[in-house]
Amino acid sequence: MRKVYFDHNATTPVHPEVAEAVRPYLFDLFGNPSSIHWAGRDVRKSVEDAREEIAVFYGCRPLEIIFTSSGTEGDNLALKGVAYLEGNGGKHIVTCRVEHPAIMNTCRFLESRGFRVTYVPVNRQGIVEPDAVRRAIGPDTMLVSIMAANNETGCLMPIEEIGAIAREAGALMHTDAVQATGKIPLPWETLPVDLLTFSGHKINGIKGAGGLIVRKGVEISPVLHGGHQERGRRGGTENVIGIVAMGKAFSLLRRNMDAEVAEVRRLRDALERALFDRIPDLVLNGHPTLRMPNTVNISFRYVEGEALLLNLDMLGIACSSGSACTSGSLEASPILLAMGADPTDSQGALRFSLGYGNSDEDVSYAVDAIERVVNKLRAMSPLYKPREAKIR
Ligand SMILES: Cc1ncc(COP(=O)(O)O)c(C=O)c1O
Repeated sequence: MRKVYFDHNATTPVHPEVAEAVRPYLFDLFGNPSSIHWAGRDVRKSVEDAREEIAVFYGCRPLEIIFTSSGTEGDNLALKGVAYLEGNGGKHIVTCRVEHPAIMNTCRFLESRGFRVTYVPVNRQGIVEPDAVRRAIGPDTMLVSIMAANNETGCLMPIEEIGAIAREAGALMHTDAVQATGKIPLPWETLPVDLLTFSGHKINGIKGAGGLIVRKGVEISPVLHGGHQERGRRGGTENVIGIVAMGKAFSLLRRNMDAEVAEVRRLRDALERALFDRIPDLVLNGHPTLRMPNTVNISFRYVEGEALLLNLDMLGIACSSGSACTSGSLEASPILLAMGADPTDSQGALRFSLGYGNSDEDVSYAVDAIERVVNKLRAMSPLYKPREAKIR
């Protein structure tokens, strides 16, 4: 059976050149980068080379990068790192309703510690409107955190405008660029952003490594206290393999990003067009154009997303539904609900996220399979009355 992987927003396959680059670190290059002897020195150099590579990619200074264990830790470090410096409570954070749980749950934790958080809404197409952020900011706002791209819909947020608004108000600006990295340009020098999170496993690196870029002059409190690693901003012996892998993944991005983005956009557009042409009663979730080039999120009316997902899995197709099955009942995706989508439509939503390794054959196999499965499930639904019209 053919295997088609359309879940690159969840994680990506390790690039063969990345795998090759980390091999020596499983054998001879095992030292602790903090050791001053020969075994440590070589490894320290590799970690710093990776930092340099990532700095060149974003256009930041190497010392502005703090390595973390994940995008989740980077988000925690950004929010708690700023909040803890402000002392215990009272101050205000602005974020939005469609952030990843790494931001959402950190904000909820900070609320439990006395900080105030405003969750600004998104519009029907899933985009945060800069004016909504402007209205939410008050005199005690210390931080605005808005993602660069949404993981479920792919929607691109206007972070330049929002960052400018935050700065004008004297607040720091953080962006979760875990999904946006490698999909859109993020020129650190001109971006009005003070803190930016990235993650290695979303860009064909290895799981368990990420980072936070903190603009020179911006102070944050550590969250992990320990040794002097990362200049005292994150204790713990570095994940050398994960960091070297990220360095390689970023160098590949620097070389190939434009071509890869163009190719993945071509495949995503082909998938989207074919599905809308061949299957009636579909709804596109998210903005038609202000969207990452690799993502399409579609509600298949009269079908449950989870049933569709499982049937496609049996045909070798990996994709994702935003809904969660809790105690036997299906909950609609909170992201789609925050966009004002119809709850029934939200339950029938699937996200297809393409990336390195996908081909035209994957698209045509998937389109045939999806059409067959949707027809089969609709035939079993008492609610479904066949229609010709395309809804978009
Ligand atoms: C927008 C966003 N932020 C943060 C994360 C968390 O990253 P990690 O898996 O590296 O912890 C993800 C992962 O899906 C994400 O999509």
